[in-house]
This record gives sequence, C-alpha cells and structure tokens, in this order.
Amino acid sequence: MGDAAADDVVWWRDGVLYQIYPRSYADTNGDGVGDLRGITSRLDYLQWLGITGIWINPITASPNDDWGYDVSDYCAVHPELGTLDDLDDLVAEARERGISVMLDLVPNHSSDRHAWFVDARHDRASEHRNYYVWADPAPDGGPPNNWVNTFDPGASAWTLDTASGQYYLNQFLPTQPDLNWWDDRVRDEFDRIYRFWYDRGVAGFRIDVCHAVLKDAELRDNPPTGPDDHWYVQMYGQRFVYNTNRPEVHDILRRWRAIADDYDPPRVLLGETYVLDPNAYAAFYGNDDELHLAFNMMLLHAPFDATELRAAVETAEALLPADAWPTWTGGNHDNHRWATRWCNDDPARVRLCMLMLMGLRGTPFLYYGDEIGMPDTPVEGDQILDPVGRMFGPRLGRDNERTPMHWNGAPGAGFTDPGVTPWQPFGAIATHNVADQTGDPASMLTFTRDLIALRRASTALRRGPYATHAASDDTIWVWERGPDVLVALNFGAAPRSIAAVNGTIAICTDRRRDGESIADTLHLGAFEGVVVERR
Ligand code: GLC
Ligand code: CA
Repeated sequence: MGDAAADDVVWWRDGVLYQIYPRSYADTNGDGVGDLRGITSRLDYLQWLGITGIWINPITASPNDDWGYDVSDYCAVHPELGTLDDLDDLVAEARERGISVMLDLVPNHSSDRHAWFVDARHDRASEHRNYYVWADPAPDGGPPNNWVNTFDPGASAWTLDTASGQYYLNQFLPTQPDLNWWDDRVRDEFDRIYRFWYDRGVAGFRIDVCHAVLKDAELRDNPPTGPDDHWYVQMYGQRFVYNTNRPEVHDILRRWRAIADDYDPPRVLLGETYVLDPNAYAAFYGNDDELHLAFNMMLLHAPFDATELRAAVETAEALLPADAWPTWTGGNHDNHRWATRWCNDDPARVRLCMLMLMGLRGTPFLYYGDEIGMPDTPVEGDQILDPVGRMFGPRLGRDNERTPMHWNGAPGAGFTDPGVTPWQPFGAIATHNVADQTGDPASMLTFTRDLIALRRASTALRRGPYATHAASDDTIWVWERGPDVLVALNFGAAPRSIAAVNGTIAICTDRRRDGESIADTLHLGAFEGVVVERR
C-alpha cells in the first residue's frame, strides 16, 4: 500500500478531520464550560490520534439562544470561550502540530441582538433595514407566504414586528433573523468577515446552512410534498423550493471560493449542505469553484443497513463531478451520536461503522468522542438547553450529543476540575474514556488511531477509486479501493463468507485477526469488517 510523497498530501483531502463542540471539549478555568485554551491543551492528543484538521463550532459572540448559531458579533470571540489572543495561540500551536483550524460561519442569519438587526428593526428607513428579509403581511394580516420554520414545522418562518407592521423572516428561532443576501452590502460585510479570520491564519470555514442563505426574490409559496419525498422533507409538509437551494446561491459560493483561493495556502470551504436531493448536493462543488467539501446528509440520515448506506455512497460517487472530493460523517452536534443512533452502543457495530467511514473514498469527519465510541448522554428536565429540545423534548433535541468529552473516569472527567458542575452532564465516563482506552491494544481508541495511521500510510485508502465488489448484497457491503485494497463489512448478525479473496488482513474490527492471511475465502463474523491488502 505504497506511501504518497509527503508533498502530495493535502490536509483536508488526505487527512482525517475532527469536529469540536468548544463548550464541551476541555475547561481550563473551572467554570464548567469548555474553552479555546482547553482545545489548545488537547492538541497533543489530536496530533497523537493523527488528526490533520479541526472544525470548531461557532466561537463568536452570541446570546446563546442557539448556542453560538445566533451571532451578535462576527469578529469577536465569545467571552466564555476566550479571547482573540487565545484563538491566535490555538492556531499557532495547532500549526506546529500539523493541524489546521477551521471555524464555523453563520451567514444565513444573525442574532436579533446583532447591531445590524437592532438598527434594522428600529425603523423602516434605517440604514440596515434591508440587511434582513422584510415583507408586508398577507391580505388577511397573516405571514407573507407559507414557508415553515426549520426548528418547528408547525410554525411559520415569519415573525411580525409590531412596531413597523412588517414581518421578518426567521427560518430558525425568532431571535435568528435571516439576512438578505440580495443586498450587496451584506455580501461585502461577509467578505470582510472571511478575511478577518483568514488573516489570522484560520484555515477555512464550515459554512452553516449554506444551501439556504439566498431566498426567492419574489418570496413565492413552497409547493406541498408528495409521497415520494424524503421522510425528512415530509416532516415539513412542503418542498423547500423557494426558501432553499436557489440557483443564485452558487454565485455566492463562487464569490466565497474566490476569496479563499486568494490566500496562500488557499483556505478551505466546507458546507453544511442540508439537501436530500443528490443532484442538488453534487452541484455545491460547482466546477471546482464552489465548496471544497460538502457534508453528505443522505449518509448521515441512512439507517444501519448495508443497502441504504451503500446507496447513499454510490449515489454520491455517481453524481459528484470528477474533481469533487467526498466527505463522510456519521454525526455532528445536530444529530444523536452514531454510536447510539446507528449502533445502539454495541461495540462491534461501532467498530464496523468507524471502519466504513475510514474505508470510503473521501475525507472522514469524526465528531469529538467518536474515537472512543462515546454514546449519547441522557439529558433531562432543566438540563435541556437546546431550543429544539425545549420545544419538543430530548428525543428531537440536540443536547445528548453535546455533552462534555470523556477524558478519564475520575470526578471532572478530565474535562473540568473535580467538583465543578459541567454545563451539561458527563454521562458514561466510567465505560468510555480516553485514559482507559489509551495503550489498550483492544480498545476503540486504538482501533481508530490505527485506522487513521493505516490511511495515512496507504495511497490506495486515501486516493484509490471506489468500486463496488460483486459480493455486496443486502447484508454485506464490499468495495475496492483500486486493485490492491478491499474493504468488506458485514452488517448482519450471521457469519458470512466471500469467495475469491486472496491477501492479508491489514486491519479487522476484531484485532486478533490483523495480519491473517486469506486464501480464497474471507470469513466475516457478526458485524465484522476488514481491510484486506490483496495479492
Ligand atoms: C445549522 C446548525 C444548527 C443550528 C442551525 C441554525 O443547522 O448546525 O446547530 O441550530 O444551523 O443556525
Ligand atoms: Ca471554561
């Protein structure tokens, strides 16, 4: 599995990337909330794990109605998380360890406490009025059109501003007014915001809701859903035709790409492309002039099922432009952890899914804690802090996947000082923590680290083309990464055999099989997966 020349290695294409929820990674000042210095203090760990880049959820000033996704100042660090100096330190220390730092940008909406909106709502003639999407009421006094709210499908996406008699658009909370991307001044503001952070050495951005920043200029009604629509779309009762994924959004992405390309090294754009139409998904890569990486929500929303997971991957493989580079993740701060969601916290299945993510063509994204198989943490009652959880309860809420990292099993979990109450509960620190799993050859952490090392050492695993192997069926999923590498996963509880495989197991979910020689028949136990170097 030959080595790539070092200069050929591009951190965001060849490496494994890692998402950090900053409030939950490491707390250095004993207030129970993770902070930027905490992330810096764990860079040695990330380097040891083999991570080449991190994406940190929003660190900017925010009243925290939506935990940082309601931005009140795009160029200031939230005081709970630290200072600009802390960020500069983090970027510099990360660079020394070969780790690039990406931040999260929220261009679709601001907080209603952002100075722009405070001015905009102050009167109809204010300077910033048109920075947001305003419209007169419908003839019956109701909202201007039928668009529904993303957080609450039962509610309108519009809020009446009684003072001015107009509605403003809020696809998320009423305190998150949507910006008006038809106004050139908004575009100019964000050009400056990108440059502000790029000039500090930030390597790129994950762009929140980037498929939806621009809305139909005529604010037309969305059409109703039909029986063939994805279940997620059906939840809303309407197709997102006019409030999402407008053709002109691609002009904006090209504009952002041009700014990113203006830097040396070029900065990297990673999109939260929450579309479930694979063609629309593929379009976000443009002609190698839009996003570098676009999150594939079709895989994330697929169940633990060989056919459905495979379909998500193969559809993307078929539709992506030749120079587009896939990225794969099983979870993030908006979805229950995949160890729990896909795998029901069964260690064998958790390993299988990790092997899937690492074996595909494309950049794998881990969400902090995935590497130790961290499960969802139960969060109840007063501990529910996510606005969606407050509205609809913990099952739909997003607190369970946002709880503190499990560094060790002692009081404080290595996250904060012993005795400090963390901002969210710790959960299963005794059974899943970094300290206990470090150095244990049989642990999930060792498995993850060894997989990352294997990818790094293998040009085929990093760059080889994906091709389905004929043995694949509704329970086993087998693919080739070029002629020399085969990945085989058994999604079933019954053992299976695959004929005509010859080679050596480079890594197996059951580590006792590493190095095993395969002569003609590959046996896979329940939920077992392997990477085979073929002969
Ligand atoms: C994105 C974020 C989510 C946030 C929403 C509104 O979907 O990932 O956490 O609540 O945008 O900003
Ligand atoms: Ca802190």
